[in-house]
Amino acid sequence: MTGGLGGTLPIQGTGFAGSWDDLYYFLFWVCVVFFAIVIIPMLVFVIKYRERPGIKPASHISHNIVLEFVWTVIPTIVSIVIFAWGWAVYKESTMVPANAMEIRVIAKSWAWTFQYDDGRTTTNELFVPVNTPIRLTITSEKNDVLHSFYVPNFRIKKDAVPGMFSTLWFNTPIVGQHILFCAEYCGADHSNMTGKVIALKPEDFEKWKWGAAIEMPPPIGLPFVDRMATTSTAPVDVKTAKVDLVKHGQKLASQLGCDSCHSDNGSKMIGPSYKGLFGRKVELADGSIVLADENWIREKIETPQKRTVKGYEGLLMPSYLGQLNEQELNAMIAYIKTLN
Ligand code: CUA
Repeated sequence: MTGGLGGTLPIQGTGFAGSWDDLYYFLFWVCVVFFAIVIIPMLVFVIKYRERPGIKPASHISHNIVLEFVWTVIPTIVSIVIFAWGWAVYKESTMVPANAMEIRVIAKSWAWTFQYDDGRTTTNELFVPVNTPIRLTITSEKNDVLHSFYVPNFRIKKDAVPGMFSTLWFNTPIVGQHILFCAEYCGADHSNMTGKVIALKPEDFEKWKWGAAIEMPPPIGLPFVDRMATTSTAPVDVKTAKVDLVKHGQKLASQLGCDSCHSDNGSKMIGPSYKGLFGRKVELADGSIVLADENWIREKIETPQKRTVKGYEGLLMPSYLGQLNEQELNAMIAYIKTLN
């Protein structure tokens, strides 16, 4: 459905893009209808019942039960529909499928870095296979500013915040280059902080993964202005030495001495084991419960004293704030995730 306004929105590059558009047009037409119901009679009444010589003011009317009932019930029903519909679409676009391929996004002034499972990174070009759920774990460099990852074709947008991870997911069936913008004013070069999501056929993605040459797919949807079309259409040649992200994380845990207090096999050392940690509910010393997600692991590495885990009160883990950059933090988290 395009609600009679087809062409005003970018192409629908994901399943939930259509759901968002339908909701958007529903809201649009609700606004049009209520504008007409309220404003047109108001204009008519202002003219028709204006004060003129010889016309007396009407007697005071205190209320009208039927009228009040109607103008309460109808907007209530409309509001409930908007809420329920919004909830359903929100759920569809935020519930990440369990089998999603994870890619980490690191924003900085003024570029995007993408970090893949095999440890490879790309700048301003996010390579994904089509028809595959992709989970993006987004953050911004330390001491940088807020950015926002925005792909209009996919109807996805999320802030990149220093010191925090946020999540987006999408699954596009459309092979091609989809424009990516920074949607948060972040300084002098904000308007140039663009990139591309390059959606490839699965076989091309495999080739790309192994560093083989591929044909770049065409730009899709929004017109690419000149400065965005800087990517050559020549085959991509990737020969970066690959350091597996999980192995990298394991190495860091050993180099930084994490493994002298935390085991990876469930056995209890000075601190809690990494085994089975990710995604678990952790009880804190004050009795509250937190989910051990990416943000929790980051908090424990950078500010371990902030919230103490029950049973580990009084232990003084030193802060590792500033000792791991964003890519290394991602590697540590990737490593801990595999210990489940
Ligand atoms: Cu980054 Cu605007």
